[in-house]
Amino acid sequence: MRVSVIGTGYLGAVHAAGMAELGFDVVGVDVDPAKVEMLSNARMPFYEPDFEPLLETHVGGRLHFTTDITQAASADVHFVCVGTPQQHGSLAADLTYVDAAVDALMPHLADGSVVVGKSTVPVGTAQVLADRIRAEAPRGANVALAWNPEFLREGLAVKDTLHPDRLVFGVDAGEGGHAEEVLRRVYARTIAEDQTPVVVTDLPTAELVKVAANSFLATKISFINAMAEICEAAGADVTKLADAIGHDERIGRKFLNAGVGFGGGCLPKDIRAFSARAAELGASQSVAFLIEMDAINLRRREHVVNLVRTHLGHLPGRKVAVLGAAFKPDSDDVRDSPALSIAGALHLAGVQVAIYDPQAMPNAAKIFPTLGYADSVDEAVAGAEAVLHLTEWPEFRELDPAVMATQVARPLVIDGRNCLDAQAYRAAGWTYVGLGRP
Ligand code: UDX
Repeated sequence: MRVSVIGTGYLGAVHAAGMAELGFDVVGVDVDPAKVEMLSNARMPFYEPDFEPLLETHVGGRLHFTTDITQAASADVHFVCVGTPQQHGSLAADLTYVDAAVDALMPHLADGSVVVGKSTVPVGTAQVLADRIRAEAPRGANVALAWNPEFLREGLAVKDTLHPDRLVFGVDAGEGGHAEEVLRRVYARTIAEDQTPVVVTDLPTAELVKVAANSFLATKISFINAMAEICEAAGADVTKLADAIGHDERIGRKFLNAGVGFGGGCLPKDIRAFSARAAELGASQSVAFLIEMDAINLRRREHVVNLVRTHLGHLPGRKVAVLGAAFKPDSDDVRDSPALSIAGALHLAGVQVAIYDPQAMPNAAKIFPTLGYADSVDEAVAGAEAVLHLTEWPEFRELDPAVMATQVARPLVIDGRNCLDAQAYRAAGWTYVGLGRP
C-alpha cells in the first residue's frame, strides 16, 4: 500500500515518518521547498525528540518528500495533515490550507483511493469535502473520505503516532465500508501489537472527538488555575490540592499542574474555533464555558506580570531573566506560548528582559525580535532582579540555587510551573514565589 501525506508540518512530517516505520511507501508533499529540502536530507524542520532517527532510517528508502503533488497520484491513501490556524480577526479556524490541499489532490485521485483528514477542523467540514470529492473526482473515480483525528502531543509526537491510546475512524455512512477497511489495514500493526481501541464513528462525531478532547484538557488546566486563584486569595496551596483531588480516580492527577497555563498550536486555537463553530450551529451556550477557560488561562500570564510589579515596583529599567520561551518542554514551538507572552509583556512595560530557552530561541526571535536573548542560563540570570521560570525544561529544574544566588542582583524566583524545589531555593536565600501557593 502506498501512502501520501499532504502537509509536512508538525503533524504531517511525523505521521509520514510513522507510516514509513509501519512499512508503507510514503510520499510527503508540502508547498514549502525549504521544509521539503530539510526533510529530504533527514533533518527536522522543528525540534521533536526521537523524530530524527526515524527520518534517518527511512528517508532515501521508503520515505520521500517533494513539492510535486503529482507524486501523490499513485497512493492508495492520502492523509491531509495541513494546519488550521486561527483566522485573523476572528476566533474561527482558517480552512484555506485544507481546501487548497483537497483542490491540489483532486485531479490525481484514483479509483478506490481514500482521502483521510487528520487536520483539526470545524464540525461539518468533512461532509462538505466528502460531497465535493464524490462530485468532482476525475473520470467518476470512486473515492471515499474518512476522518481520523490526531491526538499527538508535541515532545511525544513519535510515541503518540506509533502507539496512540486510541484510534478514531470517522466514515461516511453512504460509502460502503471501504474507508474503514483501508484504515484498519493502515493501522493493523498498531492495533495488533498494542490492542489499541478503535472507535468507528460518522464524520461529524470524529471531527468533534478531537475538539471535545482538547476542550476537556484545556478545561482541566483552567480549572486548576482557577483553584490557584482561590488558593492565592485564601492562603492555600494548589499543588497539594491537586495531589489530593487527583487521587480520586474519577478526577486523576494528570493535567492538574497549575501555573502559567496552556499554550501551543492546538489548545488555545481549538477552543476558540469550537466556540465560533458552536455559535454558527446555534449552540453557543453549550460551550460558553470555553470562553471563560480561555480567560482564566490568559489571566495567569497577567498575574505573573503583576507579581513582578508587586515585588520590583516600578518596572522600566528593571532586569528580569526569563527561563523558557517554548510553550512546553521538549519543543521549540512558541505559538501562543505563555512564557514568550509574559516576556513580551514585561519588555513592553520597559523591563530589560533576558530570555533563554534550550531549543526555542530562533523561533522566539522570529516572533519577538526586540526581546533580549541570552545564550545561556548564566548569561540570562547575570545581574537579574527576578528570575522567572516559565517552561519546565529539565535543565532548569536541575539548576543549583546556591550558585545562581551568586549571579543575580536579587534572589527572587517566580516559579510559573510550580516545579522547582521551593525548599532548596529558600535555603539558598531566595524569595521563592509559586503560583497558587502561600
Ligand atoms: C495538545 C493535546 O494534548 C494533544 O492531544 C493534541 O493532539 C494537541 O494539543 P500539545 O499542544 O502538544 O498537545 O500540548 P499538551 O501536552 O497538551 O500541553 C498543552 C499546554 O498545557 C502546554 O502549554 C502545557 O505546558 C500546559 N499544561 C499541561 C499545563 O499548564 N498544566 C498541565 O497540567 C498540563
